[in-house]
Amino acid sequence: MTVVTTDRSVRSLLKQGIGRLREANVPSFTLVAELLLLYVAARDRTWLYAHPEEILSADTTSQYFALIQRRANGEPTQHLTGKQEFWDLEFEITSDVLIPRPETEHLIEVALDRLALRELRAGRPPRLTGNGLTLVDVGTGSGCIAIALAKELPDANVYATDISATALDVARRNAARRGFADRIRFLESDLFEAFTPVRFDLIVSNPPYVGRRTAETLAREVREHEPEVALYGGEEGYEFYAELVAQSHEFLKPGGLLVLELGHDSLPAVQPLLESRHWTNLGVTNDLAGIPRVLAVERT
Ligand SMILES: C[S@@+](CC[C@H](N)C(=O)[O-])C[C@H]1O[C@@H](n2cnc3c(N)ncnc32)[C@H](O)[C@@H]1O
Repeated sequence: MTVVTTDRSVRSLLKQGIGRLREANVPSFTLVAELLLLYVAARDRTWLYAHPEEILSADTTSQYFALIQRRANGEPTQHLTGKQEFWDLEFEITSDVLIPRPETEHLIEVALDRLALRELRAGRPPRLTGNGLTLVDVGTGSGCIAIALAKELPDANVYATDISATALDVARRNAARRGFADRIRFLESDLFEAFTPVRFDLIVSNPPYVGRRTAETLAREVREHEPEVALYGGEEGYEFYAELVAQSHEFLKPGGLLVLELGHDSLPAVQPLLESRHWTNLGVTNDLAGIPRVLAVERT
């Protein structure tokens, strides 16, 4: 893109960036232009509208337009800024990990609610510190779920696994940055293979659940830039759940909880895996779009 601009004011740069992104059909183009401008200027949001006349340096301006062009070409905003918020925490993001999605926060909410319910049923007050609990996040990616749970359950014993060594490097850095390095044990593992002697009170997972046969329907940002190992759960997408459910049964304590994120069409394939005498108290929670998003169930 050749950008001819003599006006390097915040207002003008924003307007030009928005125009370019709109032209390229980038979703939420205004927000994206704002985020990229804030990123290159190393400022926060209040500055943006308080100082529309401020002139940015030629260097900052060219960095900004370079990022606008990369976003217009399909790179996710989070790969350009290197960060994403999740559960009110900022996470480092690279192309080695899935970008945490807002709907995954429902999984944290459901896990905490179900743990509290278990306490109530046992006649104990539902205030949870995680004392005595051992939990694992299978397929931790950026570490977002494990770190959010470690934050909410300060006394829990937290494990996180991933088959991807490069994803685990990012997760470990995220944990260290937030002061959770000594709270979470990160393990490179194909599902539970690294865990023979450990049994869990809670297993959580946002597994790969996209079907390879539907890959073409994914947004280009996702298909071309996010790791395949984080996206595809098999040809149909739901295949991964079968092994995850079978191994979770083996690794949960009796009465232990399994909380899974579901793909938008996974429920009909996943629910039957849990309708057996091995499982009880199955519940499904919809996301804000009304899609069944989180499944929670207890091992009998
Ligand atoms: C959908 S991403 C979820 C990442 C993160 N938990 C989140 O919610 O943003 C799935 C993750 O599972 C990991 N994964 C894929 N196959 C795996 C396996 N067999 N065992 C463990 N982790 C696996 C991927 O590397 C990826 O990080």
